[in-house]
Amino acid sequence: MRIGETWYRTIWLADDGRSVDVIDQRALPFSFEIMRLATVEQAVHAISEMVVRGAPLIGATAAYGVCLALQKNPMHGSLDRALEVLAATRPTAVNLRWALEIMDEAVRFLPQDERVAAAYRRAARICDEDVEISKRIGEHGLAVLRGLAAAKGSGPLNILTHCNAGWLATVDWGTALAPIYMAHDEGLDVHVWVDETRPRNQGASLTAYELGAHGVPHSVVVDNAGGHLMQHGMVDVCIVGTDRTTAAGDVANKIGTYLKALAARDNGVPFYVALPQTTIDWHARDGVAEIPIEQRDAREVRFIRGLGPDGRVIEVELTPPSSPAANYAFDVTPARLVTGFITDRGVCDASLEGLLGLFPEWESDVREEEAE
Ligand code: MRU
Repeated sequence: MRIGETWYRTIWLADDGRSVDVIDQRALPFSFEIMRLATVEQAVHAISEMVVRGAPLIGATAAYGVCLALQKNPMHGSLDRALEVLAATRPTAVNLRWALEIMDEAVRFLPQDERVAAAYRRAARICDEDVEISKRIGEHGLAVLRGLAAAKGSGPLNILTHCNAGWLATVDWGTALAPIYMAHDEGLDVHVWVDETRPRNQGASLTAYELGAHGVPHSVVVDNAGGHLMQHGMVDVCIVGTDRTTAAGDVANKIGTYLKALAARDNGVPFYVALPQTTIDWHARDGVAEIPIEQRDAREVRFIRGLGPDGRVIEVELTPPSSPAANYAFDVTPARLVTGFITDRGVCDASLEGLLGLFPEWESDVREEEAE
């Protein structure tokens, strides 16, 4: 993605050939800052504190976290510890577990002196593949948007999205936003309703920033506006991302996604989920029962960050200091509310049959688990 005159990914190998540079997403949209990660502890901090966030980028950062640990000490104890501390950072995004399993497989049985180079090669491949996957999601989603625009006939295609599933959430392109970028680039008249996405405001700060940088028309709305907009025919389609999708098609995404899906169903608005194959948890079926939902510090609910009058980012308190708060970070949208999945292999129904139609290589694993 181009910022000013420079093309960026969200994560890249630093010029020392060992450390990793990431965009500090906590500073956006007010300043563009790069943070260097030189140790596995710093990678853990970057994921937990949401310097980086978004399921695919969390996976990519964890992969480089393994590299940083092995760089310091390539022995098995160091690998095991890195896998453990990285896995504990954020529980909902399945990409984290996926990336750590891949890294473990890539290095565990190698001689010690080959592990570091192999780890860096594998982490780089995870990043490159993520870019390709996101691009393909964009192409398949573009076909969906073209169809909806043609059916609408005139006026902009109004798309509602929640949280940030753009290039900042992946290595490049994004998932839910990739089709929107492609549609805009080919001249389709699109307008995006951006949910602010309390409590951390990934929509208001990150999605709005991305869309603005790309020149895509958009309006930020409060999280509760979606139902009203849909009742008045002002939303043609919803597209969101996901942190974990069960084999049966249930979807965990940023808190509030479920309410949008309910409003979409009530108003006959198509509700699509854009997902890379890396967010499918083939071992899970019932999302509500089986997907671990991250609970974060109540401070994120009780305080809000923004630009102060002197141009510095400040935090202000919203709630009575004595009021406890709860901070559930994700919710689960049942498959029955999802119109379709836009994946890197094409568009399918939000169901086991739909997913297996696109990913038949999982059929035997899934049937084996069913038989157990
Ligand atoms: O808490 P976050 O900001 O990591 O949550 C991100 C989301 O909910 C995204 O929609 C999801 O990770 C999909 S990203 C392509």
